Amino acid sequence: MSSDPASPRIPRHLAVIMDGNGRWAQRRRRPRMIGHRAGARAVNVCIDFCLDVGIEALTLFAFSSENWGRPEDEVGALMKLFLGALEREVDELDRRGVRIRFIGERDRFAEAIRARMAASETQTAGNTRLQLNIAASYGGRWDIVQATRALARDVAAGRLDPEAIDEALLGARVALADLPAPDLFIRTGGDMRISNFLLWQLAYTELWFTETLWPELDTATLRRALADYASRERRFGLTGEQAAGMQPGGPTKPENNE
Ligand code: FPP
Repeated sequence: MSSDPASPRIPRHLAVIMDGNGRWAQRRRRPRMIGHRAGARAVNVCIDFCLDVGIEALTLFAFSSENWGRPEDEVGALMKLFLGALEREVDELDRRGVRIRFIGERDRFAEAIRARMAASETQTAGNTRLQLNIAASYGGRWDIVQATRALARDVAAGRLDPEAIDEALLGARVALADLPAPDLFIRTGGDMRISNFLLWQLAYTELWFTETLWPELDTATLRRALADYASRERRFGLTGEQAAGMQPGGPTKPENNE
């Protein structure tokens, strides 16, 4: 497989819903947390793959806004797992040129986790090999609401005319606005839905689903996803002929979306 990041056959930005940890554990008659721990190991498989093939940005859905509603002991254990993973993995990720960023409602996390998040972001801020975005306490609807609130503040302060609000202005306020939109979305675990992930950002993303449970993720599965992606024609609402003349990543302005 080519490792040229400029190749249109390799997604520049991959977004992933890591689903199936609980079922993986249940099938082994083990507690769900064992599945989450195995899931944390699969995160490394995914990061290694991205570094290997030259994917520039990876966004992982680690904990949704809705996941706070899970049983208290599972939420508590997941928090411990996140904190432990941050403490263990960040130095190595830093050494390998990975820049870490968290997106989501950070205020909902305990101070110890927030401090670790901030420290990981600061430590890795100069890295450029892979941008790793961890969506934690994140929801696509929340993201659009917080972007809208930011624009409303500008309107209220007299800095912005409501008539000037367009897709570009709102799009500049949602998470990851500085990155190209995800080219490829992968969901493991067999369910075919987006589950309130990057609702705005996924508008023209290619979707790929697999029955593979997240803890079983391997390079062969990721290669299959990329092979399928490479075979697709992305048109971004244009005709095939127009799209063929476009830069990888699609039109710069999301217009003519049919
Ligand atoms: C979904 O599986 C997974 C989660 C809610 C947690 C994701 C966490 C990890 C992969 C581990 C650590 C991650 C990082 C970034 C350190 P599920 O519990 O919904 O599985 P099920 O659908 O089989 O019940």
